Amino acid sequence: MAKQFDVIVIGGGPGGYIAAIRAAQLGFNTACVDEWKNDKGGPAPGGTCTNVGCIPSKALLQSSEHFEHAGKHFADHGIEVKGLTLQLDKMLARKDTVVKQNNDGILFLFKKNKVTFFHGRASFAKAAEGGYEIKVTGAAEEAITGKHIIVATGSNARALPGVPFDEESILSNDGALRIQGVPKKLGLIGSGVIGLEMGSVWRRLGSEVTVLEALPTFLGAVDEQIAREAKKAFDKQGLKIELGVKVGEIKKGKKGVSVAWTNAKGEAQKLDVDKLIVSIGRVPNTVGLDPEAVGLKLDERGAILVDDQCRTNLPNVWAVGDVVRGPMLAHKAEEEAVAVAERIAGQHGHVNFNTIPWVIYTSPEIAWVGQTEQQLKAAGVKYKAGTFPFMANGRARALGDTTGMVKFLADAATDEILGVHIVGPMASELISEAVVAMEFRASSEDIARICHAHPSLSEATKEAALAVDKRTLNF
Ligand code: NAI
Repeated sequence: MAKQFDVIVIGGGPGGYIAAIRAAQLGFNTACVDEWKNDKGGPAPGGTCTNVGCIPSKALLQSSEHFEHAGKHFADHGIEVKGLTLQLDKMLARKDTVVKQNNDGILFLFKKNKVTFFHGRASFAKAAEGGYEIKVTGAAEEAITGKHIIVATGSNARALPGVPFDEESILSNDGALRIQGVPKKLGLIGSGVIGLEMGSVWRRLGSEVTVLEALPTFLGAVDEQIAREAKKAFDKQGLKIELGVKVGEIKKGKKGVSVAWTNAKGEAQKLDVDKLIVSIGRVPNTVGLDPEAVGLKLDERGAILVDDQCRTNLPNVWAVGDVVRGPMLAHKAEEEAVAVAERIAGQHGHVNFNTIPWVIYTSPEIAWVGQTEQQLKAAGVKYKAGTFPFMANGRARALGDTTGMVKFLADAATDEILGVHIVGPMASELISEAVVAMEFRASSEDIARICHAHPSLSEATKEAALAVDKRTLNF
């Protein structure tokens, strides 16, 4: 007889493993099925984020930043480094260790919370009495049944039509994290989040990086003023970003890749690179899930169709994270996961899409929450803006990192914070204060009146809030 569970979670990424843990915490007999393998064939739960996304990219960003500091900035601090060398194999091995620590951490959390883990691929078999039968194939081969199913199968990198990833010279986010020698010339198609993060890593390690972006504007989703500031910094670092391009034929040669492209003026160009990273977005992953076996509906993009509560068209089948609508962000998946587990338990799980923070881990980092100035203008909302540059922040000067600013947007009449945008040092950490403030529907004056530690980067947040009322103290 098939093993029976209250909740079966398909996928062990940030959406899946968090859903499983929360469901188990709420007293459900829970299973999680995940097929990701490490290089020894063992389980590697954590999905794209842990294995080939957020975690390894941040490990490499940190390492490459140290390398750049040692080579270019230590001297400013009176530290002389002689004979600086890069041991890329060691850097990559460290990244792999960080990934493994996270994989093992998730397996430990499953044990701690009594989640039954199956290492294999799950697919829908049929509707069964009181729920659904799920077929597990791979290291574990069996049929299990669950009263509730949560699908959290994530997304895959989108390839250019007719140019499949070979992960040797044409790379997705996966191959981009495993390049074995620093490419002399690196090409990137798409100046989105992955393109900029990966471009930053390899530029710091010594690659000459060219980014080809189809859109005429740089980082269209980011507040325009912040995007301009970021672009200035990237230009200064020597990251070549070509906007408004049309990518043509891509040819793989013995030594590298040749990309034919047309610039914004319509002139034909050619880019020869050793490696090409294609980062033009991601597609929802339902490969091997067999949604047809139970009549689970997908939308025209191949995402699982859900309502605002993550309910699919089938009773007691839920879906969260990259495989459904909304931003493809690990923390969005986690929030949906917790909310779904709580809804299954009859509670009122809730996700506030307006307070989901965004972070791009480049140097300088870019982070924001809420509305951009261009969105407010388009919606006809009357607002006040306040900015404060890190140049005028004592801690930033001491750090030697004064690029960028904090920007507040508040309602003109009520002063409620509508958006906060940061480009600069530790933007990824600083944005949390803004998320808390917006979640509590704070006004910019609330932040301006809160005591912030001195000297700290967070004082720039307070000063930007003061700037909304045109009364900065340090600028
Ligand atoms: P993206 O959607 O961020 O950017 C793709 C870029 O490629 C866009 O600017 C688009 O205009 C451009 N593009 C599309 N087709 C093109 C073409 N044929 N030629 C030239 N340019 C083209 O996608 P990306 O960077 O692949 O990231 C995928 C997802 O992963 C995103 O949804 C992102 O949210 C998520 N992610 C988030 C991270 C974070 O939060 N720090 C880090 C990495 C990824």
